[in-house]
Amino acid sequence: MYIVQIASECAPVIKAGGLGDVIYGLSRELELRGHCVELILPMYDCMRYDHIWGLHDAYRNLEVPWHGSSIFCDVFCGWVHGRLCFFIQPKSSDNFFNRGHYYGALDDHMRFAFFSKAAMEFLLRSNKRPDIVHCHDWQTGLVPVLLYEIYRFHGMDHQRVCYTIHNFKHQGIAGANILHATGLNNDSYYFSYDRLQDNFNPNAINFMKGGIVYSNYVNTVSPHHAWEARFSDISCGLGHTLELNQQKFGGILNGLDYEVWNPEIDPLLASNFGPKTFGDKAKNKQALRERLMLEADDNKPMVCFIGRLDGQKGVHLVHHSIYYALDQESQFVLLGSATEPNLSKWFWHEKQHLNDNPNVHLELGFDEELAHLIYGAADIIVVPSNYEPCGLTQMIGLRYGAIPVVRGVGGLVNTVFDRDYDQNHPPEKRNGFVFYQPDQYALETALGRAIALYKDDPVAFKTLALQGMAYDYSWNKPGLQYVEAYEYIRA
Ligand code: ADP
Ligand code: GLC
Repeated sequence: MYIVQIASECAPVIKAGGLGDVIYGLSRELELRGHCVELILPMYDCMRYDHIWGLHDAYRNLEVPWHGSSIFCDVFCGWVHGRLCFFIQPKSSDNFFNRGHYYGALDDHMRFAFFSKAAMEFLLRSNKRPDIVHCHDWQTGLVPVLLYEIYRFHGMDHQRVCYTIHNFKHQGIAGANILHATGLNNDSYYFSYDRLQDNFNPNAINFMKGGIVYSNYVNTVSPHHAWEARFSDISCGLGHTLELNQQKFGGILNGLDYEVWNPEIDPLLASNFGPKTFGDKAKNKQALRERLMLEADDNKPMVCFIGRLDGQKGVHLVHHSIYYALDQESQFVLLGSATEPNLSKWFWHEKQHLNDNPNVHLELGFDEELAHLIYGAADIIVVPSNYEPCGLTQMIGLRYGAIPVVRGVGGLVNTVFDRDYDQNHPPEKRNGFVFYQPDQYALETALGRAIALYKDDPVAFKTLALQGMAYDYSWNKPGLQYVEAYEYIRA
């Protein structure tokens, strides 16, 4: 099959979170299975150009109809660790993607509506006719709408669309002017409940709803979250739309790229290790302690958190786990990128407050290299999310022999099984600690058990870590599930 992924991220060149990992890893898996995959991405000024090989012109002066006029774009092409990527760069004086960050601009709706339009125009003009167009999240929710309502009439009527929702919180809710800009002008047609009209605000359109309604197959990134999305309010108003479209909606658990995330070959570790050389993991802990100037005390487990500092991630519980870990004679390392200004200030304040404590380090910002070393060093990784469509950090933790302590929501339910209480897995298949209530007492019951096991029974702790390492959370199975979904919608 010929598959085109249209997305706003692809690791490691563009990565704000797990979406980037998934786009890269899924594309590589599909190629390994013999499919031809191309990616269309925005050309951001702040992306990591050092990860692109052989960047060259692919299409000069692509004319993209916009607001009744046109914006011209250049499309560049290059390889990101073997994946063929096309980058769209508008030539307007206000280049949508030269903002110094990926998301968070006031005109994000306009930026990504334009990206979706330009991606379609690029497919049309360069005579690319993929079997499958796979779009992701709200940023590309308009792609299936444009394909069906406009580009179908320009010879693109055989394309089938798969739409993956990574996060229901961000849906792309915007005014009619955005639709008009893309050439979708018939308001009375698009502003209807069964098309793009937002379920809460009748005067707004919803990109994600468009993606759901107009795609041939829709999924979110774990089976449990697919269930939550239909039967709880976690889908932020889209539950009924999913209900109406339930025959084409499912959950496919994300995978991890086992070449990128492999402690046996990871070049960013101080020392490589695997299940048979588990003892070498300690060298990473030592290296991390030296780098962050933490006390060297092997009686203290290294508890870590890596993630966006966002309400989604249960930041109040992340905060509590720092103090609880210190209280329990443990060390804590946090690597967090702040997306909300208030949370950012809060964690900067905490960082200053804890600055002189030799058992804790808060690193604020995005640092891919440091993240690898932390996974390599961690004994315990906390993921106390409010909600979590899939979550990759617990899976990476498992792969790197760090025992996850998670809240039982979303994809965390599908990947972490409580050592003491899980009823569905025999003891030798359990791999972490789970709590349910979103409060500090519940967190303590799980984190407390993990820390106690480290201190009181190192052999059992190591056994649990090895059980986690034995899990296969690669793209192997999910890759097959996506191929089956693609084949199903093509038929
Ligand atoms: P989300 O996509 O909701 O942010 P995931 O758990 O799915 O969460 O994926 C997060 C990915 O981003 C992981 O690869 C994780 O290592 C990485 N990551 C998150 N925050 C940071 C950070 N501050 N620095 C480096 N990597 C980070
Ligand atoms: C989102 C979700 C996260 C998921 C990631 C990749 O950002 O928050 O749970 O793992 O996308 O699908």
